[in-house]
Amino acid sequence: MNDKSKQKMSGYQSYLIQDNLKYFKPHKTSVTVTFAEELRKTLQEPKKSISPKFFYDENGSKLFDEICSLPEYYPYNSETEILQTLEKKLLPYLSNEFHLVELGSGSSVKTRLLINILFKSQTHLQYFPIDISEILDQSAKNLCMDYENLTVTGVVDTFENGLDFIEHYDDKPNLITFLGSSFGNFNENEGMKFLQKINNLMKSDDLFLIGLDLKKDQQVLHNAYNDSQNITAKFNLNVLKRINDELGADFDLENFEHHAIYDEEKGRVEMYLRSLSDQSITIPKSDLSVTLSKDELIHTENSHKFSISQIDSLLNECNFEKLEIWFDSKNYYSLVLAKKL
Ligand code: AVJ
Repeated sequence: MNDKSKQKMSGYQSYLIQDNLKYFKPHKTSVTVTFAEELRKTLQEPKKSISPKFFYDENGSKLFDEICSLPEYYPYNSETEILQTLEKKLLPYLSNEFHLVELGSGSSVKTRLLINILFKSQTHLQYFPIDISEILDQSAKNLCMDYENLTVTGVVDTFENGLDFIEHYDDKPNLITFLGSSFGNFNENEGMKFLQKINNLMKSDDLFLIGLDLKKDQQVLHNAYNDSQNITAKFNLNVLKRINDELGADFDLENFEHHAIYDEEKGRVEMYLRSLSDQSITIPKSDLSVTLSKDELIHTENSHKFSISQIDSLLNECNFEKLEIWFDSKNYYSLVLAKKL
């Protein structure tokens, strides 16, 4: 690691677990303060919202994994199908030795499919998972147990902060992956800025692999976000429990209901928590009290669905050259390989 990277890690606590495994986490207090301050802002706006990045406390990450095992939640199944048949298609691009940088690594299950492919063309691999969830430490340990020639350097933080860390690491090419259609959470401007940020830090021989969910039949979309076992509802409501646990708030989860609809014009699934009564909530650590009227909605997530032409213009505007686009057999989902123009 060079001096610039070291400097950037000064706000972090480093955990050196074993020779081939270390990770960096911001100090606990700074995480809580950021969480409290951001909520203080977004819950006072005329349209109240909670950022989806707050879904992923330990319980939220587990619930997300449960979502991924639901038959209705096609994004996981479709993307896995593409990854499972990727080896032959990706290998031609892997003549160099790559680092693997993963934005939103979560439990790193799908990552294994990529790691297996990379190990076909190189004997050692440095893997840099970046994830806001502390689930990262466990998933990194599991990976290290299973792969002898793997070195893991994790960053538990937002994508943006994690990328700053990777930027000056060394000059080996990176395969940067952003799977799971997490990109769909961004609104248009944020998404463009984020892609430009990635593009700016990429070297000419770096590769970018991004999973993007496609527009499709509305019933399929509806079912994916309103599953019959109500796991998505639990996942959505869990953010309120997290605010109770970490910021001392008094949300009564019984007084809220999961609501997810597809907005065709905006091309996105929108997720909300609906207040079931007039109520008021205090959030001590945000120094805030919030009043909600019956049926008022708190926005918790957007999940954008793209058309091929939208994907093309997005890549274009952010200075990427599309090398490949792969689809699953139902054409529900796409995986795009790109490089810097
Ligand atoms: C992890 C953001 C891709 O938008 O589909 C799943 C999260 N929300 N069910 C998505 C999610 C509700 C998921 N992403």
